[in-house]
This record gives sequence, C-alpha cells and structure tokens, in this order.
Amino acid sequence: MKKREKFGSRLGFILISAGCAIGLGNVWRFPYIAGQYGGAAFVLIYLLFLLILGLPIMVMEFAVGRASQQSAARSFHVLEPKGTKWHLYSYGAMLGNYMLMAFYTTVGGWMLSYFYKTARGEFSGLSPDQVGGVFSDMLGNPLYLIFWMCLTVLISFAVCSRGLKNGVEKVNKVMMLALLAIMIILVFRSVTLEGAGEGLTFYLKPDFSKLYEAEGGLFETIFAAMGQAFFTLSLGIGALAIFGSYIGKERSLTGEAISITILDTFVALMSGFIIFPAAAAFGVDAGQGPSLIFITLPNIFNQMAGGRLWGSLFFVFMSFAALSTIIAVFENIISFGMDLWGWSRKKTIVFNLIFILLISMPCILGFNVLSSISLPHIGDIQSIEDFIVSNNLLPLGSMVYLLFCTSRRGWGWKNFLQEADSGEGLKFPKWLRIYVSYILPAIVFFIFIMGYVLKFSA
Ligand code: PHE
Repeated sequence: MKKREKFGSRLGFILISAGCAIGLGNVWRFPYIAGQYGGAAFVLIYLLFLLILGLPIMVMEFAVGRASQQSAARSFHVLEPKGTKWHLYSYGAMLGNYMLMAFYTTVGGWMLSYFYKTARGEFSGLSPDQVGGVFSDMLGNPLYLIFWMCLTVLISFAVCSRGLKNGVEKVNKVMMLALLAIMIILVFRSVTLEGAGEGLTFYLKPDFSKLYEAEGGLFETIFAAMGQAFFTLSLGIGALAIFGSYIGKERSLTGEAISITILDTFVALMSGFIIFPAAAAFGVDAGQGPSLIFITLPNIFNQMAGGRLWGSLFFVFMSFAALSTIIAVFENIISFGMDLWGWSRKKTIVFNLIFILLISMPCILGFNVLSSISLPHIGDIQSIEDFIVSNNLLPLGSMVYLLFCTSRRGWGWKNFLQEADSGEGLKFPKWLRIYVSYILPAIVFFIFIMGYVLKFSA
C-alpha cells in the first residue's frame, strides 16, 4: 500500500485544522447571530457549548482519523467490529462535505468579489441604499456569481494540487498567520473609533433578560448557540478527522483539540470586536442578520477615514477565512477518491473540480433564475442546503462519532481512549466516560429534535 502523506510540522497540523474550523462561521455567522440573540449573554452560552459539547467530539474525530489512517470515506470500515454497519455513515459524511461546499463556495466568491470592489473604490460615494443595491444586483446576476465562485474553486483546487505538505499546509499556514495579523489591526481600528463604547457594552456586558427576547424564547437562543458551536468547529462530517490521519502519534489528541478550539474561539470573539464597535460607532443595527457585513460594512467603511484601505483589509480577512476552510474541505474530498479507489491526487482533483463546479450551480441559480424554488420554513436553495448540513448532518454525524467511540458495539471506549491518549500532552479525562457515553448523546439528540420542532412550528 502507498504510504500516507504526512504533515511537515505540528504547527502545520494545528493551523490547518484551525483553518478548517475558522471560516465564514466565525467571521460572518457568529457576529450576526450574536447580534440577533442579544450579545454578551448569548456569547457566554456559546462558549459553554464549545467546552462541554464541541471539544470532546473534536477529540473523537481526530482519534478515528488517526487510528484508521483514512478519511471518513473509509475510517469506519477499518475500525468497526466485524458485521456492524457503522460504515454506512461514510455516505453521510461524504454527502455532508459535498453539500457544504455546494453553497460555501458561492459565499466565498462573494467575499473575493467584495474585496475586489472595495479595493477598486466601487463603493466610494454611494448612498446607503445604493450600497444595498450592489448586493441585490450581485445576487441577481448569475454569470457574475458563477465567475467568482469558479475563481474560488479554482484557487482552492490549485492549492490542493500541490500536495498536502507543499500546497495545503504551506498556503494555509501563511493565510492563517496573515488572517490573525490583519484581525488584530482591524480590532484596534474598530475599538478606537469614536462611539465604539456602546458596541463594546452590548458585546461584553451580559444582560440575561435579552436571552428571552427571541421569538421562540430562551430555548431558541440556546438552540442557536448549540448549532453555532457545531458549525464553527466543523464537527460531524469528518472534516477534521481527515487531519488526524495525517499526523503521527507524538502528541495526545486532547491537547491539540484544545489549541484548535482556542484559536477558533479567539477568531470568533475578535470578529465581534471588529463588528460591534464599528456598528455602534456608525449607528448601524447589529441585529439585522446575514446581510450585516455585505450591506452595512461597506457603508461603515464609506464613512471612515481611510475606509478603502480598511474595507479592503476586512474583505481580505474574510476571504482568507473562507478559503482556508474550502481548501481544508477540498483536501478531505480529494482524500475520499484517493482512499476509496486508489486514484492519484491529480485524477481525483480533475474529477472533483468538475463535480464541485456543477453542484455549486443550484445555490447560485437559486438567487435569480430559480428564485421561485423555496421550501416553507426553510427558504431558498442555499438555505435548504445549509439546513441539510447544519441542522441534520452535523448533529447526527456528531452523534455517530460519539456513539462509535463510546459503545461496545462500535469502536469502543478503550480503543478510543488509547488512541486519544497516545503521545505526549494532555490526556482525555477518564471520569468523563458516563458523560460522553450517555449525557452528551442525549443533549445532541435533544438539539436535533428541538431544531425541527422550532423550525417548523414557528
Ligand atoms: N467551521 C467552518 C466555518 O466556521 C464550517 C464547516 C462546518 C467546515 C463543517 C467543515 C465542516 O466556516
């Protein structure tokens, strides 16, 4: 058998996994959801879920990847006890990765195009309404969307085509370090704006009465916080497991998972420090939802001295976050073909390049040509795809990993613990066994059911 590719360094592993986790979920979804659900008090719940829900599942994904030395397409086949059917979930995991990319590449394209527009000064001198018009005009123009989506996909596959170490690891490492640097500069700019204080209070001083203000009350807020925790950490579809298959046994996995969770959380929190003070300083409502960055931020940059520079930097930051996730997920997708059929990297890339371009079309056309397609309680094609991934595959898949690692009929607690604890560093706490075997799956199941109830009863 061909020897599996390995990362060049531990830092590479950590930054790529962090790059996979750090994405639109942190820089775009987190601020607008935190804005909608009342700020600081919501952020506290979100942090709690990262710790009690996300972290243990991340360790499990890495353990399955490292022990099997395979992507999610094959890992269950390798580790499951004879005669069991865990491997059926490999289809769920593969579907999840493809479906995620089917809409994520489009949003990645928006980020690149907004960088281009801002850098060229296309927003300068526009009224707030006109800035909003730019966004809706963009959605109405399929060729424009296709162009930027294709560019995003091509750049990302080009990086993957250079191999794991020379492409994915090198490029993502540089992008992540640049992202962290740009982020610090932007935070500094934002919190020193005149009038930033009110935004900081909203973001930092918990007002627990705000938790009850959502339509579905406290529970809807809790549900949103849990969903965000899954999404932001990339859990449930083997997106992180793949990177476990590219490392050796030098380090135990719990410590690595903690570093990655801390980095991911840091970027989400810092995005809040960029957006809330700026929104407050320019009198923008932070609770307005997904359009927050596309419609309001160009307006904010318009009113700011040196806005063209700050705006361009901001959209580079956004683009890097999106690209690092897309590259990481593409790497996973490429490894499916290599693990399943023994294809070469090149051949798998050519196949997937065409395939991803095709499956990205419905999302794009859903904003214009196919805009009549919409499901009640869910929405347009992009929302349907997001719903299938975020509300179904991520929680269900996380439950599969949980049960697989704790159940005697799966890979089992002993095997999991041995794998997770191999190497130097923090060990997985043994006393958590009851919690991760019974309570945690129950919580996840509860989220899943409540997700449906809330979504369809509203
Ligand atoms: N964590 C990524 C983000 O925050 C999204 C993602 C989810 C990636 C699931 C892979 C798997 O944007």
